[in-house]
Amino acid sequence: DWIMGDYIAEAVARIREQVGDEEVILGLSGGVDSSVAAALIHRAIGDQLTCVFVDHGLLRLNEGDMVMEMFEGKLHAKVIRVQAEELFLGQLAGVTDPEKKRKIIGGLFVDVFKEEAAKLKAAGAGHKGEHGSRAVKGATFLAQGTIYPDVVESGGTKTKKATTIKSHHNVGGLPEQLGLKLLEPLRELFKDEVRELGVALGLPPEMVYRHPFPGPGLGVRILGEVKKEYADLLRRADAIFIEELRNTKDEATGKTWYELTSQAFTVFLPVKSVGVMGDGRTYDYVVALRAVQTSDFMTADWAELPYSLLKRCSGRIINEVRGINRVTYDVSSKPPATIEWE
Ligand code: XMP
Repeated sequence: DWIMGDYIAEAVARIREQVGDEEVILGLSGGVDSSVAAALIHRAIGDQLTCVFVDHGLLRLNEGDMVMEMFEGKLHAKVIRVQAEELFLGQLAGVTDPEKKRKIIGGLFVDVFKEEAAKLKAAGAGHKGEHGSRAVKGATFLAQGTIYPDVVESGGTKTKKATTIKSHHNVGGLPEQLGLKLLEPLRELFKDEVRELGVALGLPPEMVYRHPFPGPGLGVRILGEVKKEYADLLRRADAIFIEELRNTKDEATGKTWYELTSQAFTVFLPVKSVGVMGDGRTYDYVVALRAVQTSDFMTADWAELPYSLLKRCSGRIINEVRGINRVTYDVSSKPPATIEWE
């Protein structure tokens, strides 16, 4: 029997005991796990927690602002938003290979985080906080939103694949490199428990029940070279697709198509095709809509979305996003395709 109020009280007590009067930093990504970890730790130790949110410019529409509004605005947590779009897009310029893109994004992420951690340490060394608030002494703990399935996976319980299909973006090894102790308050929880905990801590259900989003973000949803122009078009098209999925209910189950799919997103194809609008010819970019159903993300079926929904999405995207004149739907399952295109 899992009584949330008691669980939170116990978890808070444990965190307070572990941390004492030391400082904690946490890499906030906007994803479910780091968000719930941040909310829980903030509940326990307030301003002893500093969240570092690396905005790599490859987030979804308004995502960065939403993260800040939630954590800084509503929870009053200390959040440092690092505007790193130029850095990331600069390093990605001219790079088309998916694995190289993944490595660049993952590497920069670690660099930026380390730099912020070092700055915090330097700023805190010996001086009093502004306005008479607590001084940042420099963090001694690194908090991570590791959940139970992650623990099991890295414990070698799963057989290692012989070939790397995609190098996953993660921050393994960071605590040692930074000389920090680890704080992982979600280590014993399954995903659905993490979500319940998030809601109980006051995070909005839309945030906590979001589809997964890969660490490299739109960097792997823009095929080939990543450009700001492409990212901006993709963000707007994807926001329309997700809005329609959230607003369209399936009659039979009463659930929305967002709930009925495990992951859904838009992919930007850097090719142009000819179209017609009014009396004119257009020559614009193509996007693919992708929606899958899966229980473990190891295999997945493409979702049989209603034609009427697909029609509305393509109509709106082509009408509202100048620069895109063709929308396709991905009907590939995993395997042999993967969920993301890169
Ligand atoms: P694939 O494309 O391999 O994706 O079928 C399986 C699941 O993993 C997600 N994914 C990632 N998640 N960092 C992440 O945190 C990554 O680098 C990454 N790459 C893929 C993908 O969105 C899907 O849910």
